[in-house]
Amino acid sequence: MDCPRDWPEPIVRVQSLTALPAIPDRYIKPPQDRPATDTPELTNINIPLINLSGLYAGDSGLRATTLAQISEACREWGFFQVVDHGVSPGLMDQARDVWREFFHLPMEIKQGYANSPKTYEGYGSRLGVQKGAILDWSDYYFLHYLPGTLKDHKKWPEMPPSLRSVVEEYMDQLVKLSGRLMKAFSINLGLEEEYLQNAFGGEDIGACMRINFYPKCPQPDLTLGLSSHSDPGGLTLLLPDEHVAGLQVRRNNGWITVKPAPHAFIVNIGDQIQVLSNAIYKSVEHRVIVNSGKERTSLAFFYNPKSDLLIQPAKELVTPEAPALYPAMTFDEYRLFIRTRGPQGKSQVDSLKSPR
Ligand code: OGA
Ligand code: NI
Repeated sequence: MDCPRDWPEPIVRVQSLTALPAIPDRYIKPPQDRPATDTPELTNINIPLINLSGLYAGDSGLRATTLAQISEACREWGFFQVVDHGVSPGLMDQARDVWREFFHLPMEIKQGYANSPKTYEGYGSRLGVQKGAILDWSDYYFLHYLPGTLKDHKKWPEMPPSLRSVVEEYMDQLVKLSGRLMKAFSINLGLEEEYLQNAFGGEDIGACMRINFYPKCPQPDLTLGLSSHSDPGGLTLLLPDEHVAGLQVRRNNGWITVKPAPHAFIVNIGDQIQVLSNAIYKSVEHRVIVNSGKERTSLAFFYNPKSDLLIQPAKELVTPEAPALYPAMTFDEYRLFIRTRGPQGKSQVDSLKSPR
């Protein structure tokens, strides 16, 4: 099974639409999905904020407290911010800056990296290949980092000149941070420290990044920058725009707009960890709203299982009282859904649940 080679209709760059007085019909969401008319926004709440320095310190009491905070955030939220995570703040700023610069390059240069649904790698403007689908108000760049066989610097932008080396260093540090979080999650689930990492393929995990660019939008109340979805992979480390909010996380029947802390990463559980943990941890729906005054740039780093390994609930977490909720499936098979149908809330992981 594969994705088609080509998009079902000509690609329009959202960046080229920002000066229009009104958004084209293709971007107008049905009333229930619009930010202005759906459920009330929960304004005074934020997702948990955790300082990770305690994970690395020698102090075992502090380490236990930090693990407990992570545990609660994973069980209760599926989304949290981390600071003192070990990734250099200067590198985070540089990474955001080089991508901003890329999106501001002339269109002819960016078009040289235009992507196709076959691999999604490159400059893109839609997710999913359904003809006539309502589209999101964003452009993006998608690239592979691991496995090494998929990494191809020639598919990364050549401009600005520092982009490739900055992205290389940034991805390297995020792989390391993800590995530390995978250990913490394993311990917190009562599994052996290396359990999740091994289930993901050990050294052979996958890592990729989507840089989202949300241009200014003349009618932000009618559309979304990114429709509601859960991340299909393992875990996500999101570096949000430092100036412009936009990410919303589903909480009960409402949406919480994340208020980013300086130099924090937003961590969220993806569908593969929901499956491996037999839904003790859940991937949580999220979406992005846009605005008329400011564009927004975010870097979403995805840490994924080796794509041809079977992912299934950990035997240790399956009991007569908590039977396995999901059948075994490879990530390759799993991600075809979002790659063909586009973002659709949590319908995929929910549809997997074996009826009982
Ligand atoms: C994503 C995502 C959120 C954002 O890329 O999967 O959820 O704030 N991005 O851009
Ligand atoms: Ni996401």
